Amino acid sequence: MKAIILSGGKGTRLRPLTYSGAKQLVPVANKPILFYCIDNIVEAGISDIGIIISPETGQEIKDAVGDGGRWGISIEYITQDVPGGLAHAIKTARDFLSDSPFVMYLGDNLIGMRISKFVDEFKAKSPEAFILLKEVDNPKQFGVADVSEDGRVTRLIEKPDVPPSNLALVGIYIFSAKIHDAIDRIKPSSRGELEITDAIQKLIEMDMNVESFILDKWWLDTGKKDDMLTANATVLDEWLKGEIEGEVDDKTKIIGRVSVGKGSVVKDSTIRGPVVIGENTIVESSFIGPHTSIGNKVKIIRTSIEHSVIMDESELCDIERLEESLVGRRVKINANHKLHKALRLMIGDDSVVEV
Ligand code: G1P
Repeated sequence: MKAIILSGGKGTRLRPLTYSGAKQLVPVANKPILFYCIDNIVEAGISDIGIIISPETGQEIKDAVGDGGRWGISIEYITQDVPGGLAHAIKTARDFLSDSPFVMYLGDNLIGMRISKFVDEFKAKSPEAFILLKEVDNPKQFGVADVSEDGRVTRLIEKPDVPPSNLALVGIYIFSAKIHDAIDRIKPSSRGELEITDAIQKLIEMDMNVESFILDKWWLDTGKKDDMLTANATVLDEWLKGEIEGEVDDKTKIIGRVSVGKGSVVKDSTIRGPVVIGENTIVESSFIGPHTSIGNKVKIIRTSIEHSVIMDESELCDIERLEESLVGRRVKINANHKLHKALRLMIGDDSVVEV
């Protein structure tokens, strides 16, 4: 079995962070979202991975992921010249995939389940398409499936005005080579894209077996600020192992699971986990509260933060209380001594803010 990870797109809902970078590389608990996707695929025993990249952010993805050596596999890159839709991405990867069954994983999706279960069930049942579904409150924003009692999918619709169910398509699918025939038979949708939902619907019309797997763990589509913060909190809650590799002085209180990376120094502060602090970061006379991720080469001085993500090389000084904030790279936030109680910010890379 092979896998493709879709890692193009413009990331419009995560601007300004995505003006200067690919959305799949935005960190969750100090690790790019895309890396969790690769981990999950590799854990399922798949070592033949193609990453679909766009001409705009492809190089950045290649620089971050490399040749796959970090996971002990080799990774191939496939450029999709235009954002022509998910089915178009499969068409672009046709040579790489040849006639193998494959997992398709959208590179901005995070799930609280190992896909090995999903892969094993595909192998046991061998349908032509196996889709991962999750009950959601807002099905209109997703592809939605109608499923019979035995798990067979009878109909799929992309972002319906009147959803037939509350079962959304999670961006993870497994296909047999039959999907290529279905893709050859569909036309672009009203938004001008070759939709994977239409291709799967075509398989159903061709009397092929399309089955579903209901995800009962969490699923986060990390496209928006609040989803990013939830993803960060969830991953810290569930997966963080506290490990102190940097220096922590006697005046600092560490409570709960806290990681401090190599070369970082924490002085005269209180850190209440789950919190991850990257490498070569300085935290001084500060409070870092639960569900906070602080990147590499960051400086936090006389500041109180919680439930936030602070990315690499940013500096925060004399900030009384920062919460529920997503701060990009190389941002500087300094107090100007006027009183503001709670700050809720979304600041892009290279910003300078006075509060
Ligand atoms: C895509 C799919 C949709 C699916 C969603 C999951 O939508 O077209 O069926 O539910 O991913 O994230 P998009 O994110 O392109 O709007």
